[in-house]
Amino acid sequence: MNDETQRTVALTGATRGLGRALAERLLEGGHRLVACGRSEALLQELERLGGDQVFARVVDIRSWGEVDAWATEACSRGLVPDLVIANAGKINDPAPLWEVPAAEFDAVLAVNVSGVANTVRAFAPSMIKRGSGVLAGLSSGWGRFASPDVAPYCASKFAVEGLISALSQELPEGMAAVAVGPGVIDTGMLRQVRGEAAGDCETPAAWSRRAAPFFLGLGAADNGTSISVSAREDPS
Ligand SMILES: NC(=O)c1ccc[n+]([C@@H]2O[C@H](COP(=O)([O-])OP(=O)(O)OC[C@H]3O[C@@H](n4cnc5c(N)ncnc54)[C@H](OP(=O)(O)O)[C@@H]3O)[C@@H](O)[C@H]2O)c1
Repeated sequence: MNDETQRTVALTGATRGLGRALAERLLEGGHRLVACGRSEALLQELERLGGDQVFARVVDIRSWGEVDAWATEACSRGLVPDLVIANAGKINDPAPLWEVPAAEFDAVLAVNVSGVANTVRAFAPSMIKRGSGVLAGLSSGWGRFASPDVAPYCASKFAVEGLISALSQELPEGMAAVAVGPGVIDTGMLRQVRGEAAGDCETPAAWSRRAAPFFLGLGAADNGTSISVSAREDPS
């Protein structure tokens, strides 16, 4: 790996599920990781794994102050991301909308929508100043079609699609905002809605072997697209 190919990747929700698996693949590939999550122990584990390649902070992405402090410190250390993956997310316990407690509804929207906006607001200015970079927001099939019992999650992921589409029209030429559907993968989030049946789905580790090159391959030509990781699988 040389300076030309090594990327700096900012990743929210790097502690568990898809984010953790992606983090491991990116470190294996020799890339620099600007990571966050809420679990200090799991972030320390990542730091032990990646050594100097990892800059990690405990951040609740619902808090603008915490996200801003994380991004400001990273950028001041020269870690202006080439790629931002706004991955951290939350789903509601399955229930019809009228049975979802108000606090749970607000929490899903806060993590999935305000969290993505906070992440963009924190990193985009430094990337725009440099004139390059990709901002990817994790969407979902449930950001493109709706199903019962996940109305708060659907609302939040449809919002991510809208937020990313608008952002793509604001960024200067040479940059990109992309909404990414990861597919259906066996994580804690999937088990929250599918229970044990989630075990029939792909593991995060297997997914990340396809997803890491997918994310690293995004560029200016992808600006404004709503795409899925599976759409670019190697057909061979
Ligand atoms: N798994 C799937 O099949 C699937 C399908 C479609 C879309 N997605 C999307 O993919 C992304 C990752 O999902 P996943 O399945 O990996 O979920 P997961 O296993 O539940 O992991 C969620 C991650 O988000 C972090 N997080 C949650 N709330 C946070 C907060 N307030 N501040 C900072 N970090 C927070 C968690 O870290 P801490 O616990 O340390 O805070 C964790 O690392 C999500 O955006 C999800 O909507 C997943």
